Amino acid sequence: MELYIDDANISEIRRLIDLYPIDGVTTNPSILAKTGENPVKVLKEIRSILGPEKYIFAQTIPMTAADMIRDAHALVSLLGEKTVVKLPSIPEGFKAIRTLSTEGILTCGTVVYTPMQAYLAAKSGAAYVAPYINRIDNMGFDGVHVVQQIQDILTLHGFNTKILAASFKNSQQVLSLCAYGIEAATCAPSVIDSFVKNAAIDGAVNDFLKDFEKIAPSGQSMADLIS
Ligand code: E4P
Repeated sequence: MELYIDDANISEIRRLIDLYPIDGVTTNPSILAKTGENPVKVLKEIRSILGPEKYIFAQTIPMTAADMIRDAHALVSLLGEKTVVKLPSIPEGFKAIRTLSTEGILTCGTVVYTPMQAYLAAKSGAAYVAPYINRIDNMGFDGVHVVQQIQDILTLHGFNTKILAASFKNSQQVLSLCAYGIEAATCAPSVIDSFVKNAAIDGAVNDFLKDFEKIAPSGQSMADLIS
């Protein structure tokens, strides 16, 4: 499963990329607004941290297909080939996705709350569709189940479109979708950290450290002892 950071905080992106096998960063206008900085400057900084190979997802702002396409071209020319342009899964968005996909620009149908939105974005040629698990849960439906249903529909109809599962509130939701074979997930830094936040793991690691100190001077590693 591709794993993306759903955040634009530069120090958090640096920290997480250093520690985890991260495939890129996803943003939306609300995420960029949280930085309080010029969005173009932030996106360029994220690209420089990611390097040319990892993916950055950036969203178009206008509400008409023609202007969405204009934003998409500007984003790709700013951020390079490994850019996935997010467009809302609404009628004008489907129209823009159809044009962009014929131009070879990678797109993500975002703001997906229903399987039919995902179906239409996929049929329009989107490389990804992004359903919002936690927001669907908050509407009184089962977000994980909706994503599984979308995956079944994409498979049944033979679309190459990947699901970029988004809007998680906990690691269990991510695990359920990972086990179902969902191809990509984007998570806030706190959710990524929660994958391995567990007292049993910390306890086991500390026990190994304490036991080793019984047979070697404190703070010494294998390399120290061997050299
Ligand atoms: C990603 O594509 C979405 O924009 C994002 O995950 C939404 O997350 P939120 O519901 O936490 O705002």
